[in-house]
Amino acid sequence: MPGTGQLQPRAGGAVVTRWMSRSRLGAGCRGELPVGELIVLVGAPGSGKSSLAARLLTAGRADVVLSTDSFAEQISGDPGDQDCRAEAIDRLQQKLGVELAGGRRVIVDATLTRPEARLGLVRIACRAGVTRHSAYLVRASLQTCLARNAQRPGPLPGQKFGKRVPDDWLTQAPERAEAVTPIDLARETFRPVYIVDTDRRDRSA
Ligand SMILES: Nc1ncnc2c1ncn2[C@@H]1O[C@H](COP(=O)(O)OP(=O)(O)OP(=O)(O)O)[C@@H](O)[C@H]1O
Ligand SMILES: [Mg+2]
Repeated sequence: MPGTGQLQPRAGGAVVTRWMSRSRLGAGCRGELPVGELIVLVGAPGSGKSSLAARLLTAGRADVVLSTDSFAEQISGDPGDQDCRAEAIDRLQQKLGVELAGGRRVIVDATLTRPEARLGLVRIACRAGVTRHSAYLVRASLQTCLARNAQRPGPLPGQKFGKRVPDDWLTQAPERAEAVTPIDLARETFRPVYIVDTDRRDRSA
């Protein structure tokens, strides 16, 4: 690979060559090194977070989506598995640190209605040197979330949970998501904050 060397004198007369690839040097000189971004989605189950994440990825607004459901699926074969949630979150956080340190814009697709959960992600971003943090508040009424959840398939053979969330987990969820305000998120370093009302799209569809 084409590169360049910098000759650096060292004690004892030896010369050390520090090799850097031309592409890295060029990118650095033009100020084009990729800058990572932490993008969080905050919303109840069924509010439309994963659908939004896919749209943002397609539109080139993000490079990677990390979701607790896909880590749970990797671990146990069941995306809704609650028994391995802690391990799924652990793996997500490790991967988040690596991706952000590599300059990627990463969407974290999880409910994230608790401030502690978001703070954990902000800490990882800061440790990776990433100061761009943005948030999407994904809102939908309880009625919409229940209707969407009912259309999801139940557990497949060998799965305990599957993609459908038990309805009683949903009853408080939209309210908890609604209680998170853009000002809360801005105070937690997320700027800008976007509000996406997916009920409205349902009605206009
Ligand atoms: N803006 C929208 N308008 C209409 N339907 C939508 C919209 N967003 C999502 N949906 C539909 O709602 C259902 C749930 O969406 P999605 O899986 O994205 O929710 P989620 O927030 O990721 O849920 P979970 O937290 O359980 O993973 C899907 O069937 C999707 O097609
Ligand atoms: Mg989802």
